[in-house]
Amino acid sequence: MTIRTLDDLLAEGVSGRRVLVRADLNVPLDKQTGAITDDGRIRAVLPTLGALVQAGAKVVVCSHLGRPKGAPDPQYSLRPVAGRLGELLGAPVHFAEDTVGDSARSTVEALADGQVALLENLRFNKGETSKDDAERGAFADQLAGFGEAYVDDAFGAVHRKHASVYDVPARLPHVAGRLVLREVEVLGRLTGEPERPYVVVLGGSKVSDKLAVIEALLPKVDRLLIGGGMCFTFLKAQGHEVGTSLLEEEMVETCRNLLERSEGKIMLPVDVVAADAFAPDAAHDTVRADGIPSHRLGLDIGPETVAGFAAALSGAKTVFWNGPMGVFEMPAFANGTRGVAEAITKTDAFTVVGGGDSAAAVRALGLDESSFGHISTGGGASLEYLEGKTLPGIAALED
Ligand code: 3PG
Ligand code: MG
Repeated sequence: MTIRTLDDLLAEGVSGRRVLVRADLNVPLDKQTGAITDDGRIRAVLPTLGALVQAGAKVVVCSHLGRPKGAPDPQYSLRPVAGRLGELLGAPVHFAEDTVGDSARSTVEALADGQVALLENLRFNKGETSKDDAERGAFADQLAGFGEAYVDDAFGAVHRKHASVYDVPARLPHVAGRLVLREVEVLGRLTGEPERPYVVVLGGSKVSDKLAVIEALLPKVDRLLIGGGMCFTFLKAQGHEVGTSLLEEEMVETCRNLLERSEGKIMLPVDVVAADAFAPDAAHDTVRADGIPSHRLGLDIGPETVAGFAAALSGAKTVFWNGPMGVFEMPAFANGTRGVAEAITKTDAFTVVGGGDSAAAVRALGLDESSFGHISTGGGASLEYLEGKTLPGIAALED
């Protein structure tokens, strides 16, 4: 199996040719103002878009944003993204008001060599995410009509069997963009023979979301450090009461089983920051992990846990981190995530941050992005890659 790359396409010459690029421009927006709060995913596709512009292609970019339900929904418009993309490229991006309708057709038609258009949100169309092959295929036919070649640079979406990711490459000559290549190369290092000790840090709210990756990683890692909302289901499995903390009751047995099988590799919090309510100004204290008061909920890992995790990380040679350690959006509950992130940057390991949320946390906490080996743009995608699953968007690029 081989995957052709952007360089292969550039070598053929793209001047004057229409190139359809699937990007993942699914950036977080401020709920009140609609402003882009983290433009990391837009910056991540600049190398691919810049190279195509340089080479004189007519570049047609498409993406999803959020999870609209197959019909236009203004709060999920890509218009603000077109503005930001234009600023970063240093040239205006022509925005189409629809994805495959009149506006898209005329916008694509009017493109001059080296110009960029952005189509409106793919998920404003039922066909994009449809489970029905024919419905997806019909939408893919329309999209494919906008390009003479297809570049996939949407790493964050390669785990989705969606029209723009899976069906369009079957209809056009297709290559992997620079971002997709880099992501696959880095994550491949983790699934191959990672340098040891290999320490994985997992957080985030739900065990059920991470179960498959925990199962897949346990045999491969030397330590697995667990924080975030999901640690409470593990603490419960250890026999502790967790007050009103986030708890997946139906997962307790599974967690108990994982702990038994983990040969001591799993490390859980020994202290947590417990609060009266899920609110930035809620009264809170650091308590022992086995002493969470019944009326309180844990919103962060405590300082002793941070120190323990930092010690486990200090000698690591490979680190993968996915998921915040606490509610980092609230300053009172950000210390765990900050402390663990800082500990990761202090190792001399090859460090990979997986995921939309953890990547956004790095930037929101003002940490230096360059002190990590790689910050993945894919949350679900990087986890599914590490699970060893076949990713539809990658499979579709193989010849
Ligand atoms: C992400 O944010 O994880 C990707 O953009 C994929 O989005 P989705 O989970 O809505 O498919
Ligand atoms: Mg996601």
